[in-house]
Amino acid sequence: MEVVIAPVAELAVLAADAVDALLRRKPTAVLGLATGSSPLRVYDELARRHDEEGLSFDRARGFMLDEYVGLTVDHPQRYRNVIERVIASRVGWDPAAVRGPDGLADDLPAACAAYEQEIAAAGGVDVQLLGIGTDGHIAFNEPGSSLASRTRIKTLTEQTRADNARFFDGDVDRVPRHCLTEGLGTIMEARHLVLLATGRGKAEAVHHLVEGPISALWPATIIQMHPHATVLVDDAAACRLQLADYYRQTYRNKPAWQSL
Ligand code: F6R
Repeated sequence: MEVVIAPVAELAVLAADAVDALLRRKPTAVLGLATGSSPLRVYDELARRHDEEGLSFDRARGFMLDEYVGLTVDHPQRYRNVIERVIASRVGWDPAAVRGPDGLADDLPAACAAYEQEIAAAGGVDVQLLGIGTDGHIAFNEPGSSLASRTRIKTLTEQTRADNARFFDGDVDRVPRHCLTEGLGTIMEARHLVLLATGRGKAEAVHHLVEGPISALWPATIIQMHPHATVLVDDAAACRLQLADYYRQTYRNKPAWQSL
């Protein structure tokens, strides 16, 4: 696991660099897309590179991490609509090339199984963008999730619903109770994981993620087992890392030829 501690703007550039390099090397790449606040600056940077530097998403495919159950097709917080707004429409991505679990399916378990098959049929995810919840979830794998889980229905914790109420005019009662989410096993199959976390509110989760024992209580800890995981954090999110000085020193002395 590589841990980079840097200012927020620099983190977004680094994550965008990873996606940019991938798309130029492999125009048919499969991108794993997170919603929430954490990747927004990355999406801004990718949109800028699309507009100003000819970065093309034309042949790429995207798979969303998760989706709320039951939000109507036109609901602004339905993740399908969020992803369309924050990245897909800005880079001219064909809506059909961006997929997400169907939170409106009559048969939700079947929709989850179909989603797993779609990801596999696309050849798996090349770069997976991730945020982390204050309770240590990635995607919506809440504490207690099986470390080998696949796409399935999960119940959101009250902590996550409270955290996400800001997207629902501050009204926690409007935040759905259920979601469909890629499992930890699904996420671990992506070839490169890029996780972003900023702000003091993420410090405890980041501490467990990077330095804690691997445990279903802090589901993100499973990425310690991934052969290519990059954790991008600002000073505030890094404030509880025991080895923060070592991570800073490692990044400062990183050979120029070594990319993320
Ligand atoms: C969203 C997702 C979640 C968020 C996490 C952090 O697709 O998978 O795991 O990444 O809840 O959310 P923010 O970035 O809003 O703090």
